[in-house]
Amino acid sequence: MQRQGDIVLGFDPMDEIHAEFETLLARTLDCADHELIARLEALTAHLRAHFAAEDAWMRDTDFPPGQCHIDEHAAVLRSADEVLPLVAGGQPGVGRSFVQELAKWFPSHADHLDSALAAWMSKRRFGGKPVVLHRKPKASPSVGMPSETPR
Ligand SMILES: [Fe+2]
Ligand SMILES: [Fe+2]
Repeated sequence: MQRQGDIVLGFDPMDEIHAEFETLLARTLDCADHELIARLEALTAHLRAHFAAEDAWMRDTDFPPGQCHIDEHAAVLRSADEVLPLVAGGQPGVGRSFVQELAKWFPSHADHLDSALAAWMSKRRFGGKPVVLHRKPKASPSVGMPSETPR
């Protein structure tokens, strides 16, 4: 049975990825310092696969507004790749800040960019738009994460 995350966009393969992301994010937000590097590594590995899947859907289907979405994924991965060695070098606070920013960033990314891709993919697959459930917007992302709006 498909796991259901807080954000459901109506395209099952993406919803499953997002449910996994939310699980890994929660585990990383709520871990002891000695667990942090392993949790961050798992979260970063997930992000790499998560973004690769979405990027491939966009590229393979010529999704019209895809480039800003692909660029935003790349920016988040760059941040993750910068944070990991700092945490491994004894700066857990950097990792904690990154994960908190990631938690703030994701809902707006899902609302602004992933939702459009989910609608596009569902329309291609089923010939109609999915039922989309929105959650209340949270505060906008701050330093360290890419802009929430397409450039
Ligand atoms: Fe996503
Ligand atoms: Fe995305």
